[in-house]
Amino acid sequence: MSHGPSASEGDVNHSPRRAVWQRDHLDDGTRALLARDSAVFLHQSVSTPCLSAIAKAEGVWIEDLAGRRYLDFHGNNVHHVGYAHPHVLGAIRAQLEALSFAPRRFASERAVQLAEALSAKFQALTGAPGKLLLTTGGSDAVEVAIKLARVATGRFKTLSFWDSFHGAGFGASSVGGESLFRDGRAVGPLLPGTEHVAPFGCYRCAYGHAVDADGRPDLAACRLACASMVRYVLEREGDVAAIVAEPARAVPYVPPPGYWQAVREACRAHGTLLIFDEIPTGLGKTGRFFAAEHDGAAPDIVVLGKALGGGVLPIAACIARAELDVAGAYAFGHYTHEKNPVTAAAALATLEVIDREGLVEQAARVGAHALDRLHDMKRRHRLVGDVRGRGLLLGLDLVTDREAKSPAADAADRVLYRALSRGLSFKTTMGHVLTLTPPLITTLAQMDQALDILDDCLADEAG
Ligand SMILES: Cc1ncc(COP(=O)(O)O)c(C=O)c1O
Repeated sequence: MSHGPSASEGDVNHSPRRAVWQRDHLDDGTRALLARDSAVFLHQSVSTPCLSAIAKAEGVWIEDLAGRRYLDFHGNNVHHVGYAHPHVLGAIRAQLEALSFAPRRFASERAVQLAEALSAKFQALTGAPGKLLLTTGGSDAVEVAIKLARVATGRFKTLSFWDSFHGAGFGASSVGGESLFRDGRAVGPLLPGTEHVAPFGCYRCAYGHAVDADGRPDLAACRLACASMVRYVLEREGDVAAIVAEPARAVPYVPPPGYWQAVREACRAHGTLLIFDEIPTGLGKTGRFFAAEHDGAAPDIVVLGKALGGGVLPIAACIARAELDVAGAYAFGHYTHEKNPVTAAAALATLEVIDREGLVEQAARVGAHALDRLHDMKRRHRLVGDVRGRGLLLGLDLVTDREAKSPAADAADRVLYRALSRGLSFKTTMGHVLTLTPPLITTLAQMDQALDILDDCLADEAG
């Protein structure tokens, strides 16, 4: 299996420009820390060795050891409420003083409060009450979702998207669709029965259908071939326990209208559960609390993580329709920090900040403004082949030729490093999509500051 471009590629490990950027930007203290980091951490792709070192993180900003500040439009999607939000830090401090751990078999008030709050959010999305398990990380919560679907359906197969990422555990890597995480030569066999299908992605439709100049699909012509293929596979396999997918893909791609409704219907017809992985997209990122709200298709199970811990502590959740509470005889989500009151307090405080500060609405408003400006950039820069996004999940697909849609990976890499030098951090996905995922607290002024940098970097690229 070859290692193609990665949808989850979070940094710039493999770039030839990396060493040049480091030569020009790193001071001796940073170099020494990077050397120690590299000496003591196991090396792995898109992680270690590191690019640079961080000294501070506050709001939308990160700062390196030399005091250089960057607007963090990447943030691993953990920083929805901004780094070091005072309400989140205060709640954690207070909880540390009051009760710092809950050993198994003891309920904790904070964990119950959090479960009640998340259950209410789930009910608002699906119309059905939810029950849940908490885990320490997103990958673990995906494993819980898969196990629950297996028990509830008596089936073991899953269907998920090529090019997707759902975490680094064995189950999560198996449903993920990226060679970087699935290479059998490296890690051996993965879970059996983890089938994959080409995802929706209109600009580069796997089924060969065209889009108009604004990137919109011609639904009368394509007739949602991508959703039909899902139905076809469910029918042929006949015994798929669950579909596991992100409602809006990280690349980013938003689904064509009607996609999830068609897939929801196919799931219903074939007794398959629909699991939405909303680990990066949930909690308001796309301008709705759940990304699935855009699509009118209620999942059976939703997985949340990342920003749930307020950008401070690790916590994730697998929330299911209450009627799926059928695995009580098994220990399928038996994690040490399952009801940790401190991580629960961080998550509760995060939910409070999102509600009180109107951050979902802010993400929708600032995101719509950004999308307008990105479309304007597309009109002025031929390098931009497609603009996509929803809320604060935004992407520019760079191409060397608009007709052929040839990926402009080299240009994307140059733009990324140029932007980094000017104080804007983001990542590329699939090698050529500039992917912006700023926090929900991003103001219009900060968005404009970032987009001015991006615009200048694209202009430099044009010569
Ligand atoms: C869609 C998706 N699912 C799951 C995960 C895994 O979460 P974690 O790294 O907390 O295990 C990620 C992390 O990037 C993700 O983007």
